[in-house]
Order: sequence, then C-alpha cells, then structure tokens
Amino acid sequence: MTLPIAIILSGRGSNMQAIHRAILSGRLDAEIRLILSDQIAAPGLQYAKQNNIPHAWVEKTLGESREAFDRRLLEKIEASGSSWVILAGYMRILSPVFIRHFSNHILNIHPSLLPAFPGLHAQRQALTAGVKEAGCTVHFVDEGCDTGPIVAQRRVPVLPEDSEDSLSARILEQEHQLYPTCIQWAAEGKLSLEGGKVKILGQNVDNI
Ligand code: GRF
Repeated sequence: MTLPIAIILSGRGSNMQAIHRAILSGRLDAEIRLILSDQIAAPGLQYAKQNNIPHAWVEKTLGESREAFDRRLLEKIEASGSSWVILAGYMRILSPVFIRHFSNHILNIHPSLLPAFPGLHAQRQALTAGVKEAGCTVHFVDEGCDTGPIVAQRRVPVLPEDSEDSLSARILEQEHQLYPTCIQWAAEGKLSLEGGKVKILGQNVDNI
C-alpha cells in the first residue's frame, strides 16, 4: 500500500528530491502528501512548487512556544493524511507533543555515523576528530538531538585531502540512496520500533 508521507525541511531539500525521484522511478512506494518548511526561502519549497507537490510554509511567530508551533505543524500533517513524518534537513528540535503524536513514525537522516558527531556540522566534527570513516544514519526521532534508535547507516572513507565540502558531498550521495531505502521498508510495513528497539523484518541491514 502506498505510504502517505509528510516531509519537513528548512533548506536545500536534496534528500526530499531524492525521495521524490525514488517515488517517480517506482523504487519507493510512497506519496508525498505535504512538504512543510519553517523557512519561506527554503529551496526545497521552490522545488515542491515547481513539481506540484502540496507544500506550506509555517512561520514561527515571535514569542510563540515550541509546542504551539509544533501543534500547527501537526495539524497540517494530520490534515494531509500522512502516516509517517520524514525530517530532511529540518533545523529545529521537535517537541514531545509532536513526537508523541506521531509516535514511532518519524524518521531523520544525519550526516554522521551516530552516535558519533550529533548536532550541527557533523562533517566538520568528523574531520576535526580525524576519523578515517564517516557516513550517514537514518534513525527514529526521539526527544533528543540526533539520539533516536538507529535504523541503518552507510559508510564512506575520509580521505587525507578531504575538505568539509568534499566529505559532505561523498556522504550526501549515500544519504540520497539510504533514505528512500529505509522509507520503502516503512512502506512495506517492515520497519517498526517496538519497546525502543528497531525491527526490520526480513532485512539484512549489514548489506544495504
Ligand atoms: C543533510 O546532510 C542531512 O543529513 C542533514 O541535513 C542535510 C540536509 O540536506 N540532516 P538537504 O536539505 O536534504 O540537501
């Protein structure tokens, strides 16, 4: 059954585009019911407009609490009929009210091999630490910052001549493959979170 999803982003939206491409090519059985952004100038919103994907900008008003803002996001997503929420470069931390509402149905992608290097500038953190391998992680979202249960990871080498840009580009290429793959598991009803543990039915995650 086609999975109805909402994507939330703050910027470029290349992961959202990769998800959209995967849908168009038949690799991912999902429908993007809504793209939401907290940033009016997000290039991801432009893409949504050009491609006739339902989209909306939700403005954070001055003095509005995180919960009140998240309730507005939540109402829009509910109205779209989406059953999973996909974070793709969304730069705010979701409040418990939102997370509980979509309990066990929110995914995020992060450009590091979590639990290493959570938060901002993960690729820069990896270079500073001098690690020899980096990568990306798809995980369920909990109330922390990049702390939720891990679904899958892809690894890339860190090369001696790497800059933040070159490493980011190498990781991003993997993100664009990994995220649609994980969402397809959700579409097939294979992916779940039970008692805080990720379950992926019949899937060898070491080999994706
Ligand atoms: C990606 O690196 C993703 O891992 C992180 O934010 C970035 C978003 O990039 N969460 P894009 O907007 O999908 O191009």
